[in-house]
Amino acid sequence: MRIDIISVLPELLKSPFEHSIMKRAQEKQLLEVQVHSLRKWAVNDYGQVDDYQYGGGAGMVMMCEPLAKAIEELSKDRRYDEVIYLTPDGETLNQKIANTLSLKENILLICGHYKGIDERIREHFVTKEISIGDYVLSGGELAAAVLVDTIGRLLPGVLNDETSALFDSFQDNLLAPPVYTRPEDFRGWKVPDILMSGDHKKIEEWRHNQSLQRTNERRPDLSDES
Ligand code: ADE
Repeated sequence: MRIDIISVLPELLKSPFEHSIMKRAQEKQLLEVQVHSLRKWAVNDYGQVDDYQYGGGAGMVMMCEPLAKAIEELSKDRRYDEVIYLTPDGETLNQKIANTLSLKENILLICGHYKGIDERIREHFVTKEISIGDYVLSGGELAAAVLVDTIGRLLPGVLNDETSALFDSFQDNLLAPPVYTRPEDFRGWKVPDILMSGDHKKIEEWRHNQSLQRTNERRPDLSDES
């Protein structure tokens, strides 16, 4: 999969993909992430990409022209399955959306700043709008990093143990069960006996029950989702 990202702060997006699982995904050539500075398509030599909003009011708006040119130029090289604008008023990201997006080949992400992007870009180029939660970030970059991470780890071959993403929280609308590692007894706090029993069937049953209990206690709303 290839993900292109358009941003006014490309430096912010360097580190998130240079470590751990996202790094491995790129090394294995299962994922390619390319970040493009919007200033490359600025309207003047000062690098201007934003302007005052019509109708008055505080805050700048990202202009049509740089964004349109960026999207059009990048679209010459590949057909994007989705052009996604990260915005607090988009559809809230969840595992189901991540699963669906992980099946695409080419995705283009647009990171907003200031008051957001000119509405006409949303109308004419953007195919999907995603929020990572009901709070406002200073820009879309961190949201884009979250989205790329959730998608990237789902690509077949990215995780060492292929099955592990299947048992993540939210797959099947269930939270993950508790996990333990050595030592068996830490300050008198013991690992549940069942996990030491070697009885794999019983352990799976216990884990499933823990998942159900956790979901009922913490996120009863998930049981209502299909
Ligand atoms: N940009 C600013 N806040 C955001 C959010 N919560 N989700 C996605 N993009 C954003």
